Amino acid sequence: MLNIGSYDERIKNFDWNIAEKELDYHPGDIINIGWYCSDRICLMGKADKPGLLWEGSTGVEKRYTYNDIRLNSNTIAQFLLDLGIKPEDRVCLFMDKIPELYIGFLGILKMGAIAQPLFSAFGDDSLFIRLDNAQTTAIITQKKHLPKVRKIIDKMPYMKHIIIVDADPGKPLANREVAFDMAKAEKIETFDFHPTTAESPSVLHYTSGTTGQPKGVKHVHYSLISQYLTSKWVLDLRDDDIYWCTADPGWVTGTSYGIIGAFSNGVTQCVLDAGFSADNWYRFIEKYRISMWYSAPTAIRSLMKAGEEVIKKYDLSSLRHLASVGEPLNPEAVIWSERVFGKPFLDTYWQTETGSIMISNYPGMKIKPGSMGKPFPGITATVIHPETFEPFNESGKIGLIAIKPGWPAMMRTYWKNEETYQKKFQNGWYLPGDRSSIDNEGYFWFVGRDDDVINTGGHLVSPFEVESALLEHPAVAESAVVAKPDFVNMEVVKAFVTLKPGFTASKDLDLEIMNFVRKKLSPLAMPQEIEFIDSLPKTRSGKIMRRILHAKEWGEEIGDTSTLEND
Ligand code: WTA
Repeated sequence: MLNIGSYDERIKNFDWNIAEKELDYHPGDIINIGWYCSDRICLMGKADKPGLLWEGSTGVEKRYTYNDIRLNSNTIAQFLLDLGIKPEDRVCLFMDKIPELYIGFLGILKMGAIAQPLFSAFGDDSLFIRLDNAQTTAIITQKKHLPKVRKIIDKMPYMKHIIIVDADPGKPLANREVAFDMAKAEKIETFDFHPTTAESPSVLHYTSGTTGQPKGVKHVHYSLISQYLTSKWVLDLRDDDIYWCTADPGWVTGTSYGIIGAFSNGVTQCVLDAGFSADNWYRFIEKYRISMWYSAPTAIRSLMKAGEEVIKKYDLSSLRHLASVGEPLNPEAVIWSERVFGKPFLDTYWQTETGSIMISNYPGMKIKPGSMGKPFPGITATVIHPETFEPFNESGKIGLIAIKPGWPAMMRTYWKNEETYQKKFQNGWYLPGDRSSIDNEGYFWFVGRDDDVINTGGHLVSPFEVESALLEHPAVAESAVVAKPDFVNMEVVKAFVTLKPGFTASKDLDLEIMNFVRKKLSPLAMPQEIEFIDSLPKTRSGKIMRRILHAKEWGEEIGDTSTLEND
């Protein structure tokens, strides 16, 4: 029996209070995600059930029952409180996918602070921009990432504590640094969690736009309602499932579904903190008998590329249900997975701002490979005309995806940027910034983004951020950054660069600039290709026309160039 039962039945008379009732929440009550994801599961009689099965890159394993998760998150919460951290202070998690990241997240929420997860692969520039915007009070990190924090610490007077989870005993720490060893810390049996309510802020996730600095997407504790129910109905999480969400919690999928959705449903989830290889992933599925697997198109395409021989080496018969998010899932990938795993990957569509799945394929529903599926029950989504902002009367038209605001996990604002937040709404609709069509059976077909943001391997990279980093290199005069097609990552970053007088293009300079961006921003933001050119196409007003460079990369029509400088 599927959790969702029948999609067609569920969309009739849907009410979010279905989730509220299951969670025993009544409007106005205290609601704390940290408590729901640990204490409540224990109270439901699952204290000894494994909650987190973790494997590190060297094969070392750690196991945590729900009671362990409860005790350890209490302990972290108390530690933060004792440091003087206050409710609503921002506490950054800057770690690899280690247990402290997952459990620390819950600890932060338990004591009422706001969790700010950031990719540990971020370079010091990417890190600083986000910490500075959030005026973050504390950062929890590993010693291997400490050099990046130390490099920028003097610019951050608001940053009071750098908490190191694996500090070497006896080794002196710098000012503001403090050690916290989760395994050795004395466990706190009862912690009076902060009485957060529905609108209390919970998580601050940073996402990139075309222009300006990355935006901090503010979520609240009430998001649990959507995250719990979508995990249950779309991911079909059940009590005996062994769940694997491959996403890093630096990304919203890794928190909404890699922490909150999984733990609030009380399932056993696995985490593999190691780089990607087809062999290693299949081995992991076999070893832990993974039954529900939530991943991303780039990973699926990498697996396709690795071929089918490697699949035969492993017993993957535990797989029951597969889903994907983050970028368009090609029809071939859906068909391939059905053939090799006996199950299709079900595409799900949503974004950092929506906090939970918006449009999806559901277990039991007819799947059309290449389509994102239909709106989640309770979500009113359509496609509107990009100028009139009115829904189309006929199917098949390409327009902007538009969603009626008001679901529980919807972002509440962009941090200190209400103006940009307001711009996301038109004519009563929330606009995610994507284009799609809807067919005559109500299925959504993704067309593309409505801005210049690059989606590389499911991760959004702002061309503006990369261009700004490039300009800091002494050889670079001007730059324009666009997406270039790539089989595995769908898009990768490509930079067009003009050089300052005295510099000449060379392979060495090329590599030097690439590395420069990688260190400052991240490996994903690093241009995979740099093309040195004499001048960039610009409008008469001097604005760089990325559109022309983009069209060239994708072999598309260049379109209207009437505003071009030298036409
Ligand atoms: C894109 C990810 C096509 C889209 C959870 C969206 C998708 C952005 C899909 C959000 C999908 C996400 N098909 N495109 N199934 N899912 N996207 O904020 O452009 O990192 O707006 O959140 O990824 O990316 P974000």
